Amino acid sequence: MTDVGRHPLIKLHTMSEIVDVKGYVGNFDIKILKKARYVSEEDCTACGDCATACPVVRPDEFNLGLSSRKAIFTPFPQAVPSAYVININECLGHNPVVCAKCLEACEKGCINFHMSDDEIEERVGSIVVATGLEPYDPTELDEYGYTRFENVLTSLEFERLVNAGGPTKGKLIRPTDRRLPKSVGFIQCVGSRSARKGSSYCSNTCCMNTIKSTLVLKEHYPDIDIKVFYIDIRAVGKGFEDLFMRSRRLGVHYLRGLPGNVEELPNHSMRVAVENTVTGLLEFFNLEMLVLALGMKPAKSTRRLQEMLGLQLTSDGFFLEAHPKLKPVDAASRGIFYAGCAESPKDIKESVTQASAAAVRAIRLMHKGEIYTEPITSEIDPEKCTACGMCAEVCPYNAITKGIRKKTPSVVNTAACAGCGTCAAECPYDAIVMNHFTDGQINNQIDSMLEKSSQEKILVFACNWCSYAGADYAGVSRLQYPSNVRIIRTMCSGRVDEKFIFNGFLNGAPVVLVSGCHIGDCHYIDANRWTEKRVKKIRKKMEKLGIRPERLQLEWISAAEGSRFAEIMGRMEKLRQGVSMQEISETIEILRNRGKKPKTE
Ligand code: FES
Repeated sequence: MTDVGRHPLIKLHTMSEIVDVKGYVGNFDIKILKKARYVSEEDCTACGDCATACPVVRPDEFNLGLSSRKAIFTPFPQAVPSAYVININECLGHNPVVCAKCLEACEKGCINFHMSDDEIEERVGSIVVATGLEPYDPTELDEYGYTRFENVLTSLEFERLVNAGGPTKGKLIRPTDRRLPKSVGFIQCVGSRSARKGSSYCSNTCCMNTIKSTLVLKEHYPDIDIKVFYIDIRAVGKGFEDLFMRSRRLGVHYLRGLPGNVEELPNHSMRVAVENTVTGLLEFFNLEMLVLALGMKPAKSTRRLQEMLGLQLTSDGFFLEAHPKLKPVDAASRGIFYAGCAESPKDIKESVTQASAAAVRAIRLMHKGEIYTEPITSEIDPEKCTACGMCAEVCPYNAITKGIRKKTPSVVNTAACAGCGTCAAECPYDAIVMNHFTDGQINNQIDSMLEKSSQEKILVFACNWCSYAGADYAGVSRLQYPSNVRIIRTMCSGRVDEKFIFNGFLNGAPVVLVSGCHIGDCHYIDANRWTEKRVKKIRKKMEKLGIRPERLQLEWISAAEGSRFAEIMGRMEKLRQGVSMQEISETIEILRNRGKKPKTE
């Protein structure tokens, strides 16, 4: 952090909040709200005279309330810049000035009560989202007594307590009597891997953090009795298993089973009841201190930033990467990258690895001063566009600016367009050309696939990234599926226009399948939500026209689901066999006459 602060080419905005982001790769315009510090950052030498004079005492957030700070303070010893800050809500009054003890104490005259919040604008080429994490709040897990018993601490509180820079200078003490506890228990997976309370996912770091804490304790206090209650120990990583074995060799007792209940004894020790899932026995332990190994949650700012940047979240609430294997640090929107726990819970090593990768990805993109864009982008025909704005509404990348009226049609920013084709499929005026996946190209494929023996064919639209790859996987796995399947690849299922489906039926297709990535996995943020809506609408239309809506199916198939692809094709074949020649002919007749006015005598 100090290096970052000193780097001549890095501009660091501390105490700042992003309020708005506009633009696209290479040209992001960021609005930043810089909060007033009330202390001159340039002149403050962090001598601390102001804090000594300040009469206001508040709990220190950095030490999780285990120590106190003043209303004028430095957030933590290594904070960059090394300058004090006033929490103006805690200050006894700056307008009018009530106390001003800090003002009098500061010989350099760094304090300025007239400072105000500032709005700054920056233009950047790429963005790295590194929002960090939020620890799980254990107050809802009342059975562990965190809110009731003083000697039950969270892993973060424990961390501050044993840290050399912490409130006790690294000396472990029990909060109730300030003496060294003879026994300490650690409860794992607090707020993680639970279907009941907290999150269902593994927080990845808690096991190793506990193992590290047991080693620190054993190093300083070899006679201390340590018990770890766990579901299973996940020591995955270089050297991690060795650390686990070392902890066991030092006498740390690992017990498989999470405590059901914790009670406080008259001497403020904790009585822990736990079912040992190895022996099946209910066991009781008296421990002088209990530490809850907290799980991780996405940072509070995640949702707001996701809306601002148009990004996607996983069902757990973390940011979703563009591809879990091939683009693990990229967001779906070009020019945006992730680092650290913004994307999923990570330890320090993984966070550093991802941050380095994100930095290099950003540099690689920007260093030439120009970028190449994919040719698969949409284009608006100004002659046909009525500026209805439908395309702008459905674009997951905000790449389309809605026109005002017919004379100023909507425009596509090709640098921001990722080429899903949803706009082209939704445009009611056929005013959008999707380059490389034009209406003409797709309709020609349909025509030629159904040219002969159309009644025997299964017409399938598959998105490039998941369903088509799923079909491929079924093929390389040598799975059997009907040979009459005819696949048309589109970049995203969002490209599948109503016209293509009706053209398929008009050409005699007995059944049509639209397939794409599972909801939440679409490679174009959430374009497949529009597919879902569209297919529902088309099925309703089919019903009205007198065409059986079951003949149009929608399925989500991932790249790894080769067997699911084969199984769905088997189902489609059964469905096809249930469609008679007469039904197909009637459908063709209905569609041919669609839109024709009935003749009047
Ligand atoms: Fe597969 Fe959008 S990319 S459905």
